Amino acid sequence: MNFKNIKTNLQNGIMVITISRQERLNALNFETLAELHKAIRFLYDNLEIMGAIITGEGEKAFVAGADITEIAKLNEINGRKAAETGQEIFQMIENCPKLIIAAVNGYALGGGCELAMACHIRVMADNAKFGQPEINLGIIPGYGGTQRLPWLVGKGKALELMLTADMIGATEAKEMGWANYVTTQSELMPKCFEILHKIINKPAISVGLIIDCVNTAFSKGQDGFQTEANAFAACISTGDFKEGTLAFIEKRNPIFKGK
Ligand code: COA
Repeated sequence: MNFKNIKTNLQNGIMVITISRQERLNALNFETLAELHKAIRFLYDNLEIMGAIITGEGEKAFVAGADITEIAKLNEINGRKAAETGQEIFQMIENCPKLIIAAVNGYALGGGCELAMACHIRVMADNAKFGQPEINLGIIPGYGGTQRLPWLVGKGKALELMLTADMIGATEAKEMGWANYVTTQSELMPKCFEILHKIINKPAISVGLIIDCVNTAFSKGQDGFQTEANAFAACISTGDFKEGTLAFIEKRNPIFKGK
């Protein structure tokens, strides 16, 4: 795929999406968001891709937020639309039935923090920092941050972070549950690949359904237990369920086919 602001790379069924606007610390302008949307659509549609890693170009920033030069020109009407568009793309990431990991290699601020939080797992380099500093610009997080930050770190801490605009380093990010792992810069991508390699040979339908059920646990007005029971029943009719149970009984490793 040919994009201006992002790079994509396919390695053994794993897609690496790199936000690539280093001179702007990989800030998400609207063009980059639209390209990210297309890349995620490709991830959904392509059956050979089993999972993805989203990262930022260079060692300084994952994504330093929405592009403030564009945000500064918004009015009330297209401002709402901008927030809804960003939310929609990030929801697509969150609801993707394939695992998406954020490799947080530097500043993950504002929209960058929101992008990382929409991913299923966050791995953070030891020099990285996250935060929601929108309040300093006279706005609030608009790409889902007011919802996902409390899910990850709890209500009190989320309120404190959004109201103070404090930036949080990797060690504290892991302690508060924002990051799954902290690594050195050089170990960041290998750690993400290690996690994905553990998962890509698992039955793909189960992977997608687990992601869906866990997302339901954070959705208002939906019965997560019912979703889980439906998903469990759906697994029973798959060939992978037959293979998984048979392999256990025959004392061999299962070979899953994703159907
Ligand atoms: N939007 C647009 N441009 C951005 C940007 C953003 N979110 N974040 C950084 N940049 C640009 C800077 O304007 C600068 O451009 P210049 O070289 O033309 O002056 C360049 O990227 C490098 O950033 P700089 O601020 O010089 O780096 P720094 O190391 O001094 O500071 C940050 C790094 C991340 C602390 C600082 O850039 C920052 O606070 N960025 C904005 C974070 C933010 O508020 N995000 C939420 C947006 S809604």
